[in-house]
Amino acid sequence: MALFNYSLFSLVSVLLIIFCAFRLSAASFRVELAPSQVAALCKESINHTFCLDFLNSTAGIPAADLLGAGKITLKVGRDKALDARKCVKALLAQTTDPKLKESYKTCMENYGDATDAISAAKASLVAKDYATANIKISAAQTDADTCDDEVKGLPAAAELGERNRYLFNLLNIGLLITNKLGGFHE
Ligand SMILES: *[C@@H]1O[C@H](CO)[C@@H](O)[C@H](O)[C@H]1NC(C)=O
Ligand SMILES: *[C@@H]1O[C@H](CO)[C@@H](O)[C@H](O)[C@H]1NC(C)=O
Repeated sequence: MALFNYSLFSLVSVLLIIFCAFRLSAASFRVELAPSQVAALCKESINHTFCLDFLNSTAGIPAADLLGAGKITLKVGRDKALDARKCVKALLAQTTDPKLKESYKTCMENYGDATDAISAAKASLVAKDYATANIKISAAQTDADTCDDEVKGLPAAAELGERNRYLFNLLNIGLLITNKLGGFHE
């Protein structure tokens, strides 16, 4: 009986030690994005309000680590690029203005390219190849920017400008995240 009690006591002690060690490591390796990290990241962004809004209110990001936040950011970016392509396709079908038609066609290509580039960036991020992720995100930003230039001065739908701006701001956050993960400077 004494032996049994002793074993039980040992088992409880061991479990307690494991539990405490686990708690300790969980506390010292905080995984969620800390508010100070969000603030520091957004301070470098091209649109602070956008950055804070996005990182604070996008599902999954507040509970994610930096890599997780990067993946979610790029997933949203890809969805937005796909949406934008659909939107331009619909606009193209409605317009009769030949100049605008050409521009919308270019924008459709731009958004197709942006979608591919963002997918490639996400794959690179998952593979922890931050340098390639960086290049792909920059390429997608250029695509959004090119579409914006393309429709400048034309009676294009205002919605398109908003979509371009949104994607550009979003990808800037992606870029800041890969810069941070890769230890690169801006
Ligand atoms: C987002 O979070 C940051 C950091 O915690 C905070 O400073 C900022 O006020 C928050 N902004 C919004 C719009 O919730
Ligand atoms: C910055 O972000 C805010 C909030 O999302 C948005 O209303 C505004 O249009 C953005 N400005 C630019 C220049 O992108």
